[in-house]
Amino acid sequence: MKKMKTKWFREAIGYEIYPYSFFDSNNDGFGDLKGIIEKLGYLSELGVNLLWICPIYKSPLDDYGYDVEDYYSVNEILGDNNDLVNLIDSVHQKGMKIILDLVINHVSCEHKWFKEALKDKNSKYHDYFIFRDKPNNWMGFFSESVWTYSKELGEYYFHTFSERMPDLNWSNPQLRQEIYDVAKYYLELGVDGFRLDAIAHLAKDTSFLDSKLSKDLVLDTTKFSNRKEVFDYLKEFKEEVFDHYDCLTIGEVGGEASTEMALEYTKYIDMVFNFDTCWENGAYGSIGKSDEEIKTNLVNLKALFKKWFDACHHKCDMPLYWLNHDHPRVVSQYGGIEYREESAKMLGAVLLFMYGLPFIYQGEELGMSNVTYDRIEDFFEDVSARNLVKNGEYDEQTLLRFLRRCSRISARSPMQWNTKSHAGFSKGHPYIKVNDNYLMVNAEANLSERDSIYNFYKRCIEIRKENNELVYYGSFELIDPNDEDLFTYKKQYKDEELLVIANFSPKLKEIKVDSDYSLLISNQEEDITKLGSFGVCIFKKHIHKC
Ligand code: NOJ
Repeated sequence: MKKMKTKWFREAIGYEIYPYSFFDSNNDGFGDLKGIIEKLGYLSELGVNLLWICPIYKSPLDDYGYDVEDYYSVNEILGDNNDLVNLIDSVHQKGMKIILDLVINHVSCEHKWFKEALKDKNSKYHDYFIFRDKPNNWMGFFSESVWTYSKELGEYYFHTFSERMPDLNWSNPQLRQEIYDVAKYYLELGVDGFRLDAIAHLAKDTSFLDSKLSKDLVLDTTKFSNRKEVFDYLKEFKEEVFDHYDCLTIGEVGGEASTEMALEYTKYIDMVFNFDTCWENGAYGSIGKSDEEIKTNLVNLKALFKKWFDACHHKCDMPLYWLNHDHPRVVSQYGGIEYREESAKMLGAVLLFMYGLPFIYQGEELGMSNVTYDRIEDFFEDVSARNLVKNGEYDEQTLLRFLRRCSRISARSPMQWNTKSHAGFSKGHPYIKVNDNYLMVNAEANLSERDSIYNFYKRCIEIRKENNELVYYGSFELIDPNDEDLFTYKKQYKDEELLVIANFSPKLKEIKVDSDYSLLISNQEEDITKLGSFGVCIFKKHIHKC
């Protein structure tokens, strides 16, 4: 039976949790599910009402749960299946929803399907994966060939990500059913939907011909991203599973998916995460670049938000976010670390009043910033950093500079709760070093100061909820799209208008605002004729139509 879909997510404010780094309740150095339960009060106080939990499945942790060893058990470091049930219940009791990260493009090489596949070419599990006699020149996302030789079989297996994460063969209907069963199991357990990891890569170019982009190993995403069969698979997934639950489905489609593709994807799932707005400072792949060369291109950034709005508004839903567990901290990326308070607040406000379902990433509401470790090894809990170093192409200083700028560890360093040792994240030894700035940047301080970043986010969330119709259904107009410092936009719905003016620079900027606007919130003192460094003001007015 089909279930009525209610689009409850249009009123939601999302919050992403990377469970290994959130809160450690048993002091083994890793965050866990009980730790999340302990902090639900903190989250509901902030006002968020939809939690996205990164993978919780049993895993050898080569890629912290994105390498699934068993879909049906919670990784013991995080707790057990009862803890998950308790988490789901506790979240619901707080009036919040919860979605899990479902990893369906690949598993861990420790998964029993892969172990069986390696034992016997004739086993049904062999066809759950992609094996070939010869490799080609395709490179994957973690700086290595997509092919790894298995000496057990004398064949190469395909992996879009690490060599310990073999891709599943989605052209096999039996494999697809296995994945649908996993999804059903968690929906029956009570979760409210999924963030679907890496779905753009479910189908490959099965000619497996070399990429023409280079004679050497080359990342040519056209070979394994957003191919047409992906949509057939998602259609089936929808009909078999999603249609039968009032669930939210958000696919991760990465940097290659166009807005047209988003419309295609959203025939089958609710929305897609793209990365377009995450790297508008040139940091992506900037390994040879100096820090001076990294500069936010605000004109482009604004245009990208506008492009996605124009493509999706009234046509499909979309998520909004500055960063996730794979990206640098947004204060370091688009803000100014010397202006942490101002820029964190400004960035929060700009995002929270745009069209879409916003996701705050853990610690963003505290102004957490990139780590500045001075040992390369401190970045090694991230497989992509390990591979980069293993390639041996760059000297240590170049690598360090790049990792401080772009490493996924910045988002994964432990959540900073207070000024106690290890920022109150754990009484044990954290698996990733805490950011040195925790004495200044932490939740306790944020909760106690009236003007803190957390309290500013909280107020913005309240205002967003009070004006949700205007924010969600209103038009979006960029004012002065070519201004290199100011991000100014207007939203209009029925007889109301919202005006957001944000300064992405440390310069003082004059602004002109009509007297019929009233100020809803700002991160600076009373004077609203000028915006200070990273200042933001949000105004509202009623439009009197004659
Ligand atoms: C995308 C996830 O966000 C990332 O963390 C992971 O490494 C890859 N998919 C592989 O699952």
